[in-house]
Amino acid sequence: MSEPPNGTHEMISRQSRPLSTITTTKSLAMRHLPRLAGACALALSIVGPAAAATPQAPFKIGFILPMTGQSASTGKQISAAAKLWLAQNGDTVAGRKIELVIKDDGGVADQTRRIAQEMVVNDKIDVLAGFGLTPLALAAAPIATQSKTPMVVTAAATSIVTEQSPYIVRTSFTLPQVTVGIADWAARNKISKVMTLVADYAPGIDAEKFFKSQFTLDGGQILGDVRTPLRSPDFAPFLQKVADAKPDAMFVFLPSGQGAAFMKQFAERGLDKSGIKLLATGDVTDDDQLNDMGDVALGVINSHHYSAAHPSETNKKFVAAFEAANHFRPNFMAVAGYDGMHVITNALATTKGQGGGDALLAAMKGQLFESPRGQILIDAQTRDIVQDVYIRRVERKDGQLYNIEINVQKAVKDPGKLK
Ligand code: DHB
Repeated sequence: MSEPPNGTHEMISRQSRPLSTITTTKSLAMRHLPRLAGACALALSIVGPAAAATPQAPFKIGFILPMTGQSASTGKQISAAAKLWLAQNGDTVAGRKIELVIKDDGGVADQTRRIAQEMVVNDKIDVLAGFGLTPLALAAAPIATQSKTPMVVTAAATSIVTEQSPYIVRTSFTLPQVTVGIADWAARNKISKVMTLVADYAPGIDAEKFFKSQFTLDGGQILGDVRTPLRSPDFAPFLQKVADAKPDAMFVFLPSGQGAAFMKQFAERGLDKSGIKLLATGDVTDDDQLNDMGDVALGVINSHHYSAAHPSETNKKFVAAFEAANHFRPNFMAVAGYDGMHVITNALATTKGQGGGDALLAAMKGQLFESPRGQILIDAQTRDIVQDVYIRRVERKDGQLYNIEINVQKAVKDPGKLK
């Protein structure tokens, strides 16, 4: 049977609901059983799916986030931003009330998978969102595919994440996207010998690979690479290796939440006074921790897609509202959560409140709007984000440390997909 046009579902289910209508149909059916049996079956088959799609049912967005454990700041930032989006934009879209369901996976992939399954099967959520680390996004991807549920990744940043399910859309960033620019910057700024230090898992490997290939293409030399454990790293032995190699600079990627501990050990081992310049992705000079890092962070050159100090009117309003609601500064995770809500609610509006996995996914592809970070686009082919990437320098402004933008590359696509 073909889909009734928009609005027909609602009309049929409303007309069919009163008990008296059903009783009448039954008694008629008993008297004229052979002739009406087929018609009844037809009516029931229309009423069944129509009831499930009643536009008045809440539209559920299931965020799976690390609210505890080593990556808890990611959960704190993203959940605060999702709530801010609803507070600012209202919790009803095209007649559907939006319900946020936020669950803690503690940063453990088995938990992510179990929660995603429960959300889809028991809670009947309409969209999955969140995913604080790459392994957590990879664990949930097959569930999105099997259930045809859009999965909006607002954190995990390894290039391959979006290729794990045709239902994944990403509003965060990719490591290759923010790494190629800083490798170029280094080569153009009299840095010729670099050592890399990255967290030893997929996004770290992406950062290492894309830094090395761009920097050597630009004529630079890589003296060596070190990889630090993802869980509870002690950076001291790795920093010693870097110090011994005496490069002009070290390039660092660590996931959100590890930057402050790294900077502390960098200073404790005297690397800040060794003449080895520190280059990083903005995950290290994370707005969530930057202000507590102290003078050691001053002057660090880094590259990322969002700074709380981004000087647009849209961002100034976002930061002011976020800080008023939460009493802490939004970071790049927060902006991805906020934009994730924007993408999801835009898609729901496009479907006129009807939703449905495939319709929502189609409505997410190609979205273009101004985010607090600048203009963003969801590439319709890759479902990945296209955005401006900034080179920033850590500076003190009004008594606080910020990543101050000094240079911009416009509309950067994920270089990991430009094969
Ligand atoms: C990932 C996690 C982070 O906290 C981050 O800053 C970058 C990438 C990840 O696991 O994909």
